[in-house]
Amino acid sequence: MSSRIDQLFDLTGRVAVVTGGAGLLGQRHLSILEEAGATVVCVDVVDSPRFPSVLVDIADAAAVSAAASEIVDRFGPVDILVNNAARNPKVEGSDAAFGRFESFSVDTWDDEIAIGLTGAFLMSQAIGPEMARRGRGVILNVCSDLAVIAPDQRLYRQAGLEEDEQPVKPVSYSVVKHGLLGLTRYLATYWAAAGVRVNALSPGGVENGQEPEFVDRLSTLIPLGRMANVDEYEGAVLYCCSDASSYMTGHNLIVDGGRTSW
Ligand SMILES: NC(=O)c1ccc[n+]([C@@H]2O[C@H](COP(=O)([O-])OP(=O)(O)OC[C@H]3O[C@@H](n4cnc5c(N)ncnc54)[C@H](O)[C@@H]3O)[C@@H](O)[C@H]2O)c1
Repeated sequence: MSSRIDQLFDLTGRVAVVTGGAGLLGQRHLSILEEAGATVVCVDVVDSPRFPSVLVDIADAAAVSAAASEIVDRFGPVDILVNNAARNPKVEGSDAAFGRFESFSVDTWDDEIAIGLTGAFLMSQAIGPEMARRGRGVILNVCSDLAVIAPDQRLYRQAGLEEDEQPVKPVSYSVVKHGLLGLTRYLATYWAAAGVRVNALSPGGVENGQEPEFVDRLSTLIPLGRMANVDEYEGAVLYCCSDASSYMTGHNLIVDGGRTSW
């Protein structure tokens, strides 16, 4: 590789924090950032066996503030923050997974927003000001194709169920992801002059053991004709977090196999 390309993507000497780093995509984000030379830190409620971890519930303001201090003490000031944590409705079951709007509980709504949206707000508030003081930093908010389109509820239909029992993608998911885009644009302009860039990455669905029927249905909505492989966001994450994207801020990078083009 030429030294020019090395330079664009080199993260040597930078500290990168990924929330939800113990999860499916978080591990990949940490892995590519580490490979590019960054000192990486996994922030999650569960330990990452592979990467240095700080255990914290990002919805808890006091815990986030304490974790931010711990990170600086252990690893140094943070250059890169990836707000990636969210409740994953696919695996957590119940209301949060497929709850219909009419009966969606306010407790679930509050929980989802606390993790997906308030968590990103608190992490940005705990880490961003020091980036601004130092005159450099990158924040990447992990959104979704569902940050720009509504869920197609036909994807989740199950044979034999009454209409009012059909599972749906929960309203909280759309609201959290659309909200993160708002946070992205707000902070991008708020800190632009201070040298902190803030962008969003909107991935499409990753194939990860879902029912074949669901995968087939979703694939027909995607111009590339398939769901993503788990490693297919690594290039986009590295681009957004490195100097390769030095003139990009306030942007939503949609990597969805073309789904939102249709
Ligand atoms: N997997 C996909 O198909 C897909 C598609 C589009 C967008 N996304 C987004 O990408 C991100 C990562 O998704 P994933 O599939 O890796 O999810 P995942 O469920 O595998 O990982 C999420 C991680 O967040 C952590 N987490 C949950 N609550 C937390 C809290 N209060 N404090 C700290 N950590 C907490 C979990 O422990 C978990 O490790 C999410 O924002 C998701 O919405 C995923």
